Amino acid sequence: MDRKPYAIAIDGPSGAGKSSLARSVAREIGFVYVDTGAIYRTVGWAALRRSAEDAAAVAALLPEIRITMDYGEDGEQRMYLNGEDVSEKIRLPEVSMAASRISALPEVRSFLLDMQRSLAEKNNVIMDGRDIGTVVLPHADVKIFLTASVEDRARRRYQELCQRGTAKDFEQLLREIKERDYNDTHRAAAPLRPAEDAVVLDTTGNTFQQSRQQLLDIIRGRVGL
Ligand code: DC
Repeated sequence: MDRKPYAIAIDGPSGAGKSSLARSVAREIGFVYVDTGAIYRTVGWAALRRSAEDAAAVAALLPEIRITMDYGEDGEQRMYLNGEDVSEKIRLPEVSMAASRISALPEVRSFLLDMQRSLAEKNNVIMDGRDIGTVVLPHADVKIFLTASVEDRARRRYQELCQRGTAKDFEQLLREIKERDYNDTHRAAAPLRPAEDAVVLDTTGNTFQQSRQQLLDIIRGRVGL
């Protein structure tokens, strides 16, 4: 029987493990994983490259940029800016800050809204971000707010960067995560907050497998997959 695709929304602060958990769970249940942070990062990268510092400069940039994405053979989401593969560049720490900055702009948020919604119209998705349950997919079948203590999140991000060979000072990373938390939760446009009907999952102190299992249990409990 045809039904509209399932949508699972996962929101939460930076470094809570959203991407790696959502990717792994999506693979398990056969859903498409959409990392919306990567979409904002692509705009952040464009703003950095064009030295678009203020809101007016970023808004002026939008009509000139074309963002597309696909999934590689490994199932990884790849991002393209005007046809150029920027999937690696958008992971640079300076792009994290730029993405946080441009994501506060209502022009940027509305520019990206349709793209995110249309992905969910065509596929069963697990979509992660900051406003998926509250703004992008308010009718999602399951909404999860994934969080962890700021120290735990900074530790995970530190380990991730070490593995990529781009390690940086832990204290600086902690400061940056706090700054991004502040930006993401205090902006006027679609601030980070749990949707009223979200299940809050705090993964502080958990192993990856524990969090993954909890997430799967919540999803299966709600949509009977
Ligand atoms: O999840 P991430 O760290 O890759 O996201 C990068 C930035 O993009 C983050 O600081 C907040 C912003 N973002 C957003 O505002 N809304 C989303 N749905 C996803 C990300």
